[in-house]
Amino acid sequence: MTTPIVHLSRRYTFPASHRLYTDRLSWAENEAIFGKCANPNGHGHNYRLTVTVAGPVDPRTGFVMSLDQLDDAVRRHVLDVYDHRYLNVDVEDYFDVVPTGENIAKRIWERLEAPLTGRLRRIVLDETRNNQFEYTGPSHPT
Ligand code: NI
Repeated sequence: MTTPIVHLSRRYTFPASHRLYTDRLSWAENEAIFGKCANPNGHGHNYRLTVTVAGPVDPRTGFVMSLDQLDDAVRRHVLDVYDHRYLNVDVEDYFDVVPTGENIAKRIWERLEAPLTGRLRRIVLDETRNNQFEYTGPSHPT
Protein backbone atom coordinates (compact mmCIF):
# COMPACT_ATOMS: atom_id res chain seq x y z
CA MET A 1 0.00 0.00 0.00
CA THR A 2 1.37 3.40 -0.92
CA THR A 3 1.00 6.48 1.22
CA PRO A 4 -1.00 9.24 -0.45
CA ILE A 5 1.07 12.38 -0.96
CA VAL A 6 -0.51 15.83 -0.97
CA HIS A 7 1.12 19.00 -2.29
CA LEU A 8 0.68 22.29 -0.46
CA SER A 9 1.59 25.64 -2.05
CA ARG A 10 1.70 29.00 -0.35
CA ARG A 11 2.42 32.44 -1.80
CA TYR A 12 4.65 35.19 -0.44
CA THR A 13 5.68 38.56 -1.80
CA PHE A 14 8.76 40.67 -1.34
CA PRO A 15 10.04 43.79 -3.08
CA ALA A 16 13.74 43.79 -3.92
CA SER A 17 16.07 45.39 -6.41
CA HIS A 18 18.77 43.93 -8.60
CA ARG A 19 21.10 44.63 -11.45
CA LEU A 20 21.86 42.11 -14.18
CA TYR A 21 25.57 42.59 -14.60
CA THR A 22 28.75 40.57 -14.14
CA ASP A 23 32.34 41.69 -13.71
CA ARG A 24 33.34 38.67 -15.80
CA LEU A 25 32.16 40.48 -18.92
CA SER A 26 32.99 43.87 -20.39
CA TRP A 27 30.53 46.73 -20.13
CA ALA A 28 29.70 46.33 -23.82
CA GLU A 29 29.05 42.61 -23.36
CA ASN A 30 26.92 43.23 -20.29
CA GLU A 31 24.90 45.80 -22.17
CA ALA A 32 24.50 43.48 -25.15
CA ILE A 33 23.30 40.58 -22.97
CA PHE A 34 21.29 42.35 -20.28
CA GLY A 35 20.22 45.60 -21.96
CA LYS A 36 18.64 48.15 -19.65
CA CYS A 37 18.68 45.57 -16.83
CA ALA A 38 22.44 46.30 -16.65
CA ASN A 39 21.86 49.98 -15.77
CA PRO A 40 24.31 50.85 -12.99
CA ASN A 41 21.94 51.68 -10.15
CA GLY A 42 19.62 48.70 -10.48
CA HIS A 43 15.84 48.45 -10.63
CA GLY A 44 13.15 46.85 -8.52
CA HIS A 45 10.52 44.13 -8.74
CA ASN A 46 7.67 43.01 -6.56
CA TYR A 47 8.64 39.37 -6.48
CA ARG A 48 5.95 36.79 -5.90
CA LEU A 49 7.23 33.55 -4.47
CA THR A 50 5.25 30.31 -4.40
CA VAL A 51 6.69 27.55 -2.23
CA THR A 52 5.36 24.00 -2.67
CA VAL A 53 5.88 21.27 -0.10
CA ALA A 54 4.60 17.70 -0.26
CA GLY A 55 4.19 14.74 2.01
CA PRO A 56 1.74 12.42 3.70
CA VAL A 57 -1.17 13.95 5.59
CA ASP A 58 -0.64 13.81 9.34
CA PRO A 59 -3.64 11.79 10.62
CA ARG A 60 -3.87 13.87 13.79
CA THR A 61 -3.81 17.35 12.23
CA GLY A 62 -4.90 16.71 8.65
CA PHE A 63 -1.93 18.79 7.48
CA VAL A 64 1.05 18.05 5.24
CA MET A 65 2.82 20.77 7.20
CA SER A 66 1.46 23.49 9.42
CA LEU A 67 1.27 26.87 7.72
CA ASP A 68 2.97 28.38 10.76
CA GLN A 69 5.96 26.08 10.26
CA LEU A 70 6.11 26.91 6.54
CA ASP A 71 5.70 30.65 7.14
CA ASP A 72 8.37 30.61 9.81
CA ALA A 73 10.91 28.89 7.54
CA VAL A 74 10.22 31.22 4.60
CA ARG A 75 10.31 34.30 6.79
CA ARG A 76 13.53 33.46 8.58
CA HIS A 77 15.48 32.00 5.66
CA VAL A 78 14.24 34.11 2.73
CA LEU A 79 12.09 37.13 3.52
CA ASP A 80 14.19 38.44 6.40
CA VAL A 81 17.22 38.30 4.09
CA TYR A 82 15.73 39.44 0.76
CA ASP A 83 12.89 41.83 1.55
CA HIS A 84 13.62 45.46 0.54
CA ARG A 85 17.26 44.62 -0.27
CA TYR A 86 19.50 45.33 -3.22
CA LEU A 87 20.28 41.70 -3.98
CA ASN A 88 23.65 42.28 -5.71
CA VAL A 89 25.12 44.16 -2.76
CA ASP A 90 23.12 43.19 0.34
CA VAL A 91 22.66 39.43 -0.10
CA GLU A 92 25.69 37.15 -0.22
CA ASP A 93 23.78 34.63 -2.37
CA TYR A 94 24.49 36.95 -5.32
CA PHE A 95 28.09 37.94 -4.72
CA ASP A 96 29.16 35.23 -7.18
CA VAL A 97 26.18 34.87 -9.54
CA VAL A 98 24.00 37.32 -11.46
CA PRO A 99 20.67 37.71 -9.62
CA THR A 100 18.50 36.61 -12.52
CA GLY A 101 15.13 35.04 -11.84
CA GLU A 102 16.71 31.66 -12.57
CA ASN A 103 19.39 32.14 -9.92
CA ILE A 104 17.00 33.64 -7.36
CA ALA A 105 14.71 30.60 -7.69
CA LYS A 106 17.72 28.29 -7.22
CA ARG A 107 19.13 30.16 -4.24
CA ILE A 108 15.73 30.26 -2.53
CA TRP A 109 15.50 26.48 -2.98
CA GLU A 110 18.94 26.08 -1.41
CA ARG A 111 17.90 28.23 1.55
CA LEU A 112 14.68 26.33 2.18
CA GLU A 113 15.67 22.75 1.46
CA ALA A 114 17.10 21.95 4.90
CA PRO A 115 14.60 23.93 7.00
CA LEU A 116 11.68 22.24 5.23
CA THR A 117 13.12 18.81 6.13
CA GLY A 118 12.78 17.02 2.84
CA ARG A 119 9.30 18.36 2.06
CA LEU A 120 10.26 21.02 -0.48
CA ARG A 121 9.14 20.19 -4.02
CA ARG A 122 9.00 23.38 -6.04
CA ILE A 123 9.92 27.05 -6.06
CA VAL A 124 8.07 29.38 -8.43
CA LEU A 125 9.24 32.96 -8.67
CA ASP A 126 7.17 35.55 -10.54
CA GLU A 127 9.35 38.51 -11.38
CA THR A 128 6.95 40.43 -13.59
CA ARG A 129 3.53 39.79 -15.02
CA ASN A 130 5.23 37.92 -17.87
CA ASN A 131 8.35 36.35 -16.33
CA GLN A 132 8.05 33.24 -14.20
CA PHE A 133 10.87 30.95 -13.05
CA GLU A 134 10.41 27.46 -11.65
CA TYR A 135 12.91 25.20 -9.90
CA THR A 136 12.21 21.70 -8.67
CA GLY A 137 15.62 20.89 -7.28
CA PRO A 138 18.85 19.32 -8.48
CA SER A 139 17.44 15.77 -8.65
CA HIS A 140 15.17 16.45 -11.61
CA PRO A 141 17.23 16.36 -14.84
CA THR A 142 15.64 18.13 -17.77
NI1 NI B 1 14.90 42.95 -13.29
